[in-house]
Amino acid sequence: MAFSFFQNILKPQSQSVLGIDIGSSSIKVVQLRKKGGKAVLETYGELALGPYAGIEIGRATNLPNEKITDALRDLLKESNVTTRAAGISIASSSSLLSFIRMPEMDQKQLATMIPIEARKYIPVPITEVALDWWVIPKQENSFSEFEKAPVAGEAPKEKGIEILLVVIHNDVLNRLNQISQGTGLQSSFYEIEIFSSMRSVIDQNLESVMVFDMGAGSTKLYVIERGILRASHTVNRGSQEITLALSRSLGLAVGEAEHIKRTIGLSSEPEHKNIKEIVTLNLDYVFAETNRVIGAFEKKYGRSVSKVVLTGGGSLLKGFLDLARTRFQTEVVLGDPFSKTEAPAFLEPVLRVAGPEFAVAIGIALRKLQESE
Ligand SMILES: Nc1ncnc2c1ncn2[C@@H]1O[C@H](COP(=O)(O)OP(=O)(O)OP(=O)(O)O)[C@@H](O)[C@H]1O
Ligand SMILES: [Mg+2]
Repeated sequence: MAFSFFQNILKPQSQSVLGIDIGSSSIKVVQLRKKGGKAVLETYGELALGPYAGIEIGRATNLPNEKITDALRDLLKESNVTTRAAGISIASSSSLLSFIRMPEMDQKQLATMIPIEARKYIPVPITEVALDWWVIPKQENSFSEFEKAPVAGEAPKEKGIEILLVVIHNDVLNRLNQISQGTGLQSSFYEIEIFSSMRSVIDQNLESVMVFDMGAGSTKLYVIERGILRASHTVNRGSQEITLALSRSLGLAVGEAEHIKRTIGLSSEPEHKNIKEIVTLNLDYVFAETNRVIGAFEKKYGRSVSKVVLTGGGSLLKGFLDLARTRFQTEVVLGDPFSKTEAPAFLEPVLRVAGPEFAVAIGIALRKLQESE
């Protein structure tokens, strides 16, 4: 899929930028440009990686660099992008996020102590990784006034400083450098996908919000509070599991099963009862895991998750939102990252539907825009 609607417009004044999300089943690209303080959507596109791996569309791949480079080059061409200034996402699975607790100390001491502490969490020599960290601000007293009612039980008062530790293997960064060079991109940063999604689908507010990203191979869950990541978990089941289950149960080729998943999904028509059951069974596994993560967060921090934002191609399934609403005890919405961009009105319905899949790519492009200001 690719779409472009600005080719004949005069050359843009300000610099256009690209956000690129290399997912396991497809690559997404979004091109934005700043105009009058707004992020104008210039073009976007998606390309399935299955065919580059000799497997069906919609399935997770594990491709060598050269193939990814070929695919990305094809996508950039198909989507009619007009710039090479880009940011690229790093898959959560290629990074290690840990929340660690350190004794009270100043920034300088932390800078010395964290790499030493980090060794405990990193299974490879520290020289092989890039390390980053953030101190998670303490709850201010005034915060509780704005909060939802605390969850029954405790709001634990743990000592010390909580730190979000981010570790990325140098191989991952080298790989992205190669892809970037191979496609002639000028990538100024790589960002772990959650931080991109946070920017595109979450409003900075006081609530605890969960981002639920159902991709092809896995489902990523993150809890964000006041714009800060507080918990992260991956369920090793994604939307391709539904396709494979449909294929097995109904004796269909995988390609056909994928088609059925996308066209029928959770349809309530009596003749689709069987399909609905298979799909529901698979989703319920993921929803149960999600409720477990929400429960663990609520227990640990004594605050409730007030909203779940659905992203990823898996959440485009027909009836997905309705089912999710019956499974979670909180408000559930579909991510609408294109709402952070200005686009022609006629496109709005299309963009709302495609939105959840582009949360990462849009988030990256928004950061790149900020950077070029
Ligand atoms: N309309 C649809 N209905 C149902 N499922 C869909 C639809 N569109 C895409 N999917 C499914 O969504 C999955 C792809 O989602 P997405 O593009 O978010 O994954 P990804 O980013 O490539 O993977 P990951 O995040 O796991 O690396 C595929 O398994 C695909 O079958
Ligand atoms: Mg993804």
